[in-house]
This record gives sequence, structure tokens and C-alpha cells, in this order.
Amino acid sequence: MEQGRYEFVVVANRLPVDRVSSEPGEEAWARSPGGLVSALEPSVRQSRGAWVGWTGAPDDDPGQFELDGVHLRPVPLSAEEVDQYYEGQSNSTIWPLFHDAVEQPVHRRTWRVTYEAVNRRFAEATAELAAEGATVWVHDYQLLLVPRMLREARPDLRIGFFLHIPFPPVELFMQLPRRADLLRGLLGADLVGFQQSLAADNFLQLAARLLGLEPEGERVEYEGRTVTARAFPISIDMSEIDRLAADPGVQAEARRLRRELGGDRRLFLGVDRLDYTKGIEQRIEAYGELLAAGAVSNDEAVLVQVATPSRLRVAQYQQLRERVEREVGRINGEHGDVGKAPVHYLFQSRTREELVALYLAADVMLVTPLRDGMNLVAKEYVAARRDEQGALVLSEFTGAAAELDGAFVVNPYDVDDLERGMAAALRADPADLAARMRRMRSHVREHDVDRWAREFLDVLGGPVSSLSR
Ligand code: ADP
Ligand code: G6P
Repeated sequence: MEQGRYEFVVVANRLPVDRVSSEPGEEAWARSPGGLVSALEPSVRQSRGAWVGWTGAPDDDPGQFELDGVHLRPVPLSAEEVDQYYEGQSNSTIWPLFHDAVEQPVHRRTWRVTYEAVNRRFAEATAELAAEGATVWVHDYQLLLVPRMLREARPDLRIGFFLHIPFPPVELFMQLPRRADLLRGLLGADLVGFQQSLAADNFLQLAARLLGLEPEGERVEYEGRTVTARAFPISIDMSEIDRLAADPGVQAEARRLRRELGGDRRLFLGVDRLDYTKGIEQRIEAYGELLAAGAVSNDEAVLVQVATPSRLRVAQYQQLRERVEREVGRINGEHGDVGKAPVHYLFQSRTREELVALYLAADVMLVTPLRDGMNLVAKEYVAARRDEQGALVLSEFTGAAAELDGAFVVNPYDVDDLERGMAAALRADPADLAARMRRMRSHVREHDVDRWAREFLDVLGGPVSSLSR
């Protein structure tokens, strides 16, 4: 096979940009949603590498192109493949199962077949682009089979894999049909990275249980090679958020938001993709109970929930949307006043500037997922609070909770505990809040996304030095 010329290739389900609607014949692109792209895009821009991924639209094949110094190689997906590989196997089977099965995973044979076919297409596209001995970094649960497929085609490559979501305990993983194929897929990598060491342990235990392998520490021998499994907690570009938070226009927008919401009302904020793992329903319900109990009044406080539309064609997401909208309507009906809604619910995406203005305006940031590999919103909030004000309420079931020790930690399944955490954050002493925020800021500053990428690539080895600044 003829080999490509890229020393560094990132492979992810999505390209870092989505095609947005434009005039016929014109092309317009916007940053893709979610934590994966937010985390990787800054480092790949530095490296002038290639990125293999889907444009986010069915039957879309724009061909390869360059954007901001990155070579983009779209992998086209038909409408049926989007349905079966993306909405089906990736987001109705693997996503819920890997998140503690907080929604019931659905299993279909046709989805698995298409998942494998699409993974093969990603592997083939990557094999064509990568130079001899190149470093390839494959990402996330949509592409679990790619490392092995790639190794079979190109044994010369250094192959890393990073899972952005949790890796489930052995008993849960064992429910997956064709489970050993998925595990063998991952074992095609030289280095498998996870958000938390618990996930790496789950992976190694699974290798022992399912394939009879014998892990030693973080390493396991497989087909004559050594595979390393280790935690690399992902992070954010602190300097980008910090710069936006210092921008006078962004600060003016934060002041405007507060004025619009009613002057001295204290602001609770949630910012998430509208996903059932994020605990949005439980959070809104807890806020409603605080109002009902009189622990917080509608004159005193307001909740803004920004929910980015996500995976709209998947039934469980549609049902979630309906439940959230009903609950918001109920609370506003029961506790609102003319011109003074208790809950402002925005089913919208926002620009980075707008998000940072919201972070700056918020007195209490609510990050309460039922399960989350990391949660970058929590780290972004901390990065934005250069004024050392504001409180973070954080679910213990996020990767971020292991790092951000200044947060008000809650169990999102326990509405009483959620309410306790929300009230404690609202009533906390400003000096205590400042001390907490300082601790968290210094942690995020020390552990930003550049360091994450550098550490992963250093352990992986191979020719990628251009990422190290
Ligand atoms: P996930 O990866 O599951 O979506 P994360 O919290 O790790 O969750 O990452 C979400 C990313 O998407 C963050 O960078 C956040 O700023 C961005 N984001 C979330 N909600 C919105 C929104 N409404 N508009 C724009 N960006 C958003
Ligand atoms: C999470 C996943 C990513 C995914 C993102 C957005 O961050 O880990 O792999 O890209 O959510 O979801 P979407 O389905 O829109 O790509």
C-alpha cells in the first residue's frame, strides 16, 4: 500500500469542525460540539497533522482539505450508516452501557455489523494518510475496533487510543454481544488511555477475565506486544478561557446578563449537551424543591440551564427533552411571576464568548452528571473565574471530582444531597469561596490540555515532538 506523508494523525468520529448550512456552492464550518473536540483541537492545530473524521452530516463527501493548518480527511457516512453506526451502536448501545447503563442499552446485530464496517473505513483512511512509522492517535467509543484494524494494515505505526468516557466495570462490559472483539480492537493499540485509573483497572481486569491475559501493573502482553493502560485525565485550554474572561466585551456581556435576569438575583447555571448522563432533570427537580420548600425564593435566585441540542434522532434523547421541558414548565408555572421566571431553559448552542460570559455571571455552577468521564464544563468554569468568585457544585461521579477539591461535591441521585450542596454553595462565605476557587484554579493551570496531550504522546513514543511547545 502506498503510504501517506503525515507523521501525526488524529482519528475521531467527528472532524473538529461541522459543516453548517450555507449558500449552495459555498462551504462554511463551525467547531464541533463536545469535550473531545474542545480538548484536542488546540494541540492538533500546533502540530500541522492530519485529522480523520466525519463531517456530522449524512451523505456528505467534501473531499480532503486544509483548515487552520490541519489536514482534514472526511470519512463519508450514508444516512443508513449514521442511523446504525452513530445513533445505533455508538449512542444507543455503547454510550449508555459505558455510563453505568443509566439508560437501558439497546443491542442490534445490524448495528454491530455497520459499526465494524465504518470502523474499517476509518482505519483504511488512516492507513493511507500515515507516513512510515507515524504516530496515530485514535479517540473514543465510536472507534473501539480501529486500533486492531490499523495494526493489521500498518504494523509500522505507533498507535495510541484514548477513551473520553468511562470504561465500565467488568460485569457491565460482559453484557455486550461480541464483547471480546471490542476488547481485541483496543488491544491493537500500544497505549490505551483513560480518564481515571479506575477505568484502566477495569480494562486490565477485563483482559484477564475475557482473554485470560496476565496484566502486570499497567502493562499486559498481547500477541507478542506490550500494551499499556494508564489514566491521563483530560483538561482544557486554560489560557483561552482566561483570555476570554479578561475581555472587556465578555465582561460587559456578563453584567448585561445579570441585569436582564433581575439585578441582584443570584444566578445558578447549568451548561451541558442535552444528555441523560448529565443529570439535568435531577438538577432542575432539586431546584424546584428548593423553591417549594422556601429554602430559596424566586426573588432571590434564578436558574439558567443552557442545553445544547445533541443526538436529536435518538429516542432516549427525544424523551429526555420532553421530560426536561415539562419539568421546567411545571416549575415556572408554580413558582414564577410575570416577567420573573425561576428557570430559564435555553435549548441552544452558544459561542465560546457567550459561554464564558455566562460562567462569569454565575454565582453557582451546577455540574451534576450521573456519570461523566471527566466533564470539561467544570474546568472551564474554574478557568473563567479569574476574579476568584463563584461556587462549583460537582457530582462525585465525574472524573473532574477527583481533581477539583474546592467543589461542593454531591450525589446527584440523592435529591436531598443535591439540594444541600446547592444551598451550601449559595450561602457560602465569600472568603471560603475564594480559597476554594484559588485551589481549583491552580490545579487546572498546572494540568491543562497541552500537558495532557504531551504526557500521552510522551508515553506513546514515536515521532511527534511538534506537539511539545
Ligand atoms: P461532553 O463531552 O459530554 O459534551 P464536557 O463537559 O466534557 O461534556 O464537554 C462539553 C464541551 O462542550 C465543553 O467544552 C463546553 O464548553 C461545550 N458546550 C457545552 N454546552 C454548550 C453549549 N450550549 N454551547 C456551546 N458549547 C457548549
Ligand atoms: C462526548 C464524546 C465525544 C462526542 C461529544 C459530542 O464528548 O466523548 O466523542 O463527540 O460528546 O457528541 P456527538 O455525538 O455530537 O459527537
